[in-house]
Amino acid sequence: MCGIIGYIGRGQAAPVMLDGLKRLEYRGYDSSGMAVVGESGISVCKTEGKISRLDEKTDGGKTLVGFCGIGHTRWATHGAPSDINSHPHLSCDGRFAVVHNGIIENHAELRAMLETHGYAFKSETDSEVAAQLLQYLFDGDVKSTIRALIERIKGSYAFGIIFSGAPDRLYAVRKDNPLVIGLGNGENYIASDVAAALAHTHEFVILGDGEIAEITADETHYYSTDGKQIDKEPYTVDWDITRAEKGGYPHFMLKEIYDQPKALTDTVRPRIHEDEIDLDGITFSREYLDGLSGVDIVGCGSAYHAGIVGKQFIEKHCRIRVDCTLASEYIYKNPITGKDRLTVIISQSGETADSLAALRLAKKLGSRTLAVVNVVQSAIAREADDVLYTRAGPEIAVATTKGYTTQVAALYLIGLKFAITRGTITKKRYSALLSALSDLPDKVEEQLKETPVANAHTYAEAFSNQHCVFFIGRGADYAASLEGALKLKEISYVHAEAYAAGELKHGTISLVEKGTLTIAIATQSELYDKTESNVRSVSSRGGTVLAIASRENSKVRAFADGLLTIPDCDDDMSPVLTAVVLQLFAYYVAFKRGCDIDKPRNLAKSVTVE
Ligand code: F6R
Repeated sequence: MCGIIGYIGRGQAAPVMLDGLKRLEYRGYDSSGMAVVGESGISVCKTEGKISRLDEKTDGGKTLVGFCGIGHTRWATHGAPSDINSHPHLSCDGRFAVVHNGIIENHAELRAMLETHGYAFKSETDSEVAAQLLQYLFDGDVKSTIRALIERIKGSYAFGIIFSGAPDRLYAVRKDNPLVIGLGNGENYIASDVAAALAHTHEFVILGDGEIAEITADETHYYSTDGKQIDKEPYTVDWDITRAEKGGYPHFMLKEIYDQPKALTDTVRPRIHEDEIDLDGITFSREYLDGLSGVDIVGCGSAYHAGIVGKQFIEKHCRIRVDCTLASEYIYKNPITGKDRLTVIISQSGETADSLAALRLAKKLGSRTLAVVNVVQSAIAREADDVLYTRAGPEIAVATTKGYTTQVAALYLIGLKFAITRGTITKKRYSALLSALSDLPDKVEEQLKETPVANAHTYAEAFSNQHCVFFIGRGADYAASLEGALKLKEISYVHAEAYAAGELKHGTISLVEKGTLTIAIATQSELYDKTESNVRSVSSRGGTVLAIASRENSKVRAFADGLLTIPDCDDDMSPVLTAVVLQLFAYYVAFKRGCDIDKPRNLAKSVTVE
């Protein structure tokens, strides 16, 4: 989705913003632009396409001169990607420039009103309304004009604003869209995502809904919606900037696949103390858990898939009914929830609009909410009753890898904590699972050794010209197949569908013909024979089968055309290892097909619109 970076300081703003915009590229965008304000007013440069074009057009930022500016990467919603529709937008008189993330819902009405007052719009965007409205509402004081602006606007927004009459000031305001203020030494920043300013500072302030920031090179002032000055506490982001860089890998996705042993170690190990799990002090008493009529897990995309793995694990070991629902469905289904249900919201970014809306609805209906989130201090983390952070570090590639596996690991921790508290698991099984979970980072490390990676690479090359791939599995393998199919389709553009293996014969098998590739996941010992018979029925119809199994269960090889093994592990832990193989497989298929792996077409990293 769109990204914002703003700078004010003693250096030239444009080169700093260009660097910040490059760091925001991962969020997905189709055009970009910058505006700086100097003594002679505001100058703007914007362009459709890659940031490299903006870089060229401004000669690395040199042609835009000024110490204060705003920059933007746009992901088109209202109006096609084009130079004109890119941000920043200027007011008709050229005195205000605005960058905007979010959607102005009443833009048509505001535009019509402004047009009757003679305002000539240049773009088709909803965002330009904000620039024109600032001019229309200007009362001589920028802060009170911004207050008047947000009173008129319906929808979600994060705005960065500059004004030609105040070249020493940068303004920001937000609602339901992320925006942080980065605090530097003699320079300050605004950013939609800490990654954009992390090279310069680790100290950030989060603006609350409707709060306005007025920022100079040396000071930051914050105002509540009613105009009163307020104090805001900064927080420190301990992410190392190198974790948001490629570190020698050709793509962020590959780097993040290889980050997984560390990400899993950080998520799991500090929370296990001998035989005890400490969920960062969050308590779930036996009385509370026994009183629950069920748990709702809610998320989008891969986070939803992690939820399905979690649902199976929690139901199996805790004997609590768990419903896993897509956030976009949850918010419109009039959910049956209340005090007797726990709602677990899963989100890597912590800013996904549908997941945030689901969290708010669950809270409103009286449910306790637990967020499983990666980005510290993100909206979902702040608003949930409790938060368990997945300590994956910054995830830059659009397709999640370590974000997903750490979510699954966090759900394992939660499930085991619930099970031992409720007494639904034997001490022996609990200890065995705890130790398997603790060993998981090492197993992933093993999975990332040369031979398994080379095998995934070889099969990916061999199957990279497929048009359609089926993924099948039962139980936890079905949950894993959902994620495998999503990973393949989103980065390689190969159509992929996941099926519960037993469902194939109820329709889909009619699509299997000579050469159709089916990836059969068979890691669950109890279900192994059943899956094997599904594999046979595919191969007997001429279909090609690539199986995924643990070494001890690899007899499926006899019926498959290829086999990718995962290290031997407790069956309950296999979805994480399977995910790693399927991530590698998808990565190498996309690589072979020449796809833009880190930024697949039409996709955004953080989906902040519903
Ligand atoms: C797929 C992917 C998406 C996200 C989904 C939710 O690789 O990354 O499906 O999982 O958009 O995002 P978060 O977890 O940030 O809420």
